Amino acid sequence: MPELLTARLRLRPWRDDDLDPLAEMYADPEVMRYIGDGSVRAREETAASLSRMRVEWEERGHGMFAVELRRTGELTGWTGTTVPDFLPEVLPGVEIGWRLAHRFWGRGLATEAARAALGHAFDIVGLERVLSICNVDNAASEGVMRKLGMRLDRETEVPSHGTRVRVYAVTREEYANRRD
Ligand SMILES: CC(C)(COP(=O)(O)OP(=O)(O)OC[C@H]1O[C@@H](n2cnc3c(N)ncnc32)[C@H](O)[C@@H]1OP(=O)(O)O)[C@@H](O)C(=O)NCCC(=O)NCCS
Repeated sequence: MPELLTARLRLRPWRDDDLDPLAEMYADPEVMRYIGDGSVRAREETAASLSRMRVEWEERGHGMFAVELRRTGELTGWTGTTVPDFLPEVLPGVEIGWRLAHRFWGRGLATEAARAALGHAFDIVGLERVLSICNVDNAASEGVMRKLGMRLDRETEVPSHGTRVRVYAVTREEYANRRD
C-alpha cells in the first residue's frame, strides 16, 4: 500500500493503533448520519471494517487510505476507492469515498485528500472511470464530488434500505483536463 503526501495530509497504510480514533469516529451520530441506514457502529464492527479495508488493498490493488494530519500526526479519517456492492445497478464499477472525524470538517481536507487518492486511482491503479455515491441530503459530500470535477450520473435508490442517493462520475480523461 503506497503513501501519498499533500500540503497538509499524509495518505498512508493502516496501522493497528488506528482502531481507537476510527472507533470514536464510527460511534459519532453526526459522522454516520448519511452512511447506510445512519446507525453508529460498535467497536467490534469498526474493527471488522478496518480489517476489510486492509484486505481490499491486497485483493484489488487499491482501497481506502488512512488520512493523517501531517502537522500533528492525528488520524483525520480516510479516503480512497472501493467497489459499491450495495448498489448493483452501477456494477462493475469503482467508487471513491471519504469519511472524516467531525472536528476536521469544513477545512477543505476531504477534497485535498480525495484529489490525491483520485489521481492515484487514475495514474497508478489505471482505472478508467470512478464513481462517487452520496445520500441526496449529504450536501457536504456532494460538495466534495463537485469540487473534484465529478458530474451527476443518476439519482436512484439503494435496494437494501431504500435510501435515495446521487451517483457522480468522472473519467480519467475528464479528470486530467479539469481545472481546480
Ligand atoms: C463529507 C465530508 C468528508 C466532507 O469533509 P470536509 O473536509 O468538510 O469537506 P471539504 O471542506 O473538502 O468540502 C466540502 C464542501 O461542501 C460544502 N458543504 C459542507 N457542508 C455543506 C452543507 N451543509 N451544505 C452545502 N454545502 C456544504 C463546503 O462548503 C465545501 O465546499 P466549498 O469548499 O466550496 O465551500 C465530511 O463532512 C464527513 O466526513 N461527513 C461524514 C461522512 C460522510 O458523510 N461521508 C460521505 C459519505 S457519501
